[in-house]
Amino acid sequence: MTNIVELRDISKVVTEPNGQTRHLFEDLNFHLSESERSVALIGRSGSGKSSLLRILAGLDVSYQGQYLHRDRTLLPKPDTMADYRRKNIGMVTQRYDLIDDFTVLRNVKMAIPGHKEADTIARQALAAVGLEGFDRKRISKLSGGESQRVAIARAIVKEPSLVLADEPTGALDEKTETEVLELFKTLGSAGARFVIATHSARVAEFCDRRLIIEGNRLVQVP
Ligand SMILES: Nc1ncnc2c1ncn2[C@@H]1O[C@H](COP(=O)(O)OP(=O)(O)O)[C@@H](O)[C@H]1O
Ligand SMILES: [Mg+2]
Repeated sequence: MTNIVELRDISKVVTEPNGQTRHLFEDLNFHLSESERSVALIGRSGSGKSSLLRILAGLDVSYQGQYLHRDRTLLPKPDTMADYRRKNIGMVTQRYDLIDDFTVLRNVKMAIPGHKEADTIARQALAAVGLEGFDRKRISKLSGGESQRVAIARAIVKEPSLVLADEPTGALDEKTETEVLELFKTLGSAGARFVIATHSARVAEFCDRRLIIEGNRLVQVP
């Protein structure tokens, strides 16, 4: 079975704000196979969930070890990874990172610059997340749950092979969290793959597999 992404023996050292050196990851291994839709990353605050997502996203290339995409090694160079990221990765960040003064449609279109059918495709993505008719609304007028849906639409609009979500329901109430999970389920059935960093037991339970960052590595949770 092909792995969509795989990390082999990843080690990363960081300097903490107090100047101390910390071995954040040591010989960490990770894979997401084609046959699974979602993997949850759990672990206490500061254990490295966001840092690991940044490596998976190709945003951070300062580590030792191998990054493979569909069994091919990618060189951890900023240009290589930026190109890879543009083609393959959709990201949903904890704070959504939308532009408040832009419309919903414009925020989604930002993920597909220069695309000839940008309007149509962006509207399709908005329909997929249940935001039909929201095109011309400003982000500043939306609820937290609606903003999160826009962030998800922006992440999926280019049909990435992998969607990385950093605590995507962290700011949402339980009902809205359920709606987001149902949305992930629908998108998963349509072929999307997810790695989700989460504190929520419900989100973790929703995923096909759970991994916890423990002692600089990932450990499978039964
Ligand atoms: N680029 C970096 N430089 C310095 N420290 C970092 C860097 N990236 C992460 N860290 C440190 O790594 C630790 C893990 O952070 P993070 O990945 O945000 O954890 P989590 O998302 O699990 O809460 C933190 O202690 C943070 O200070
Ligand atoms: Mg984090």
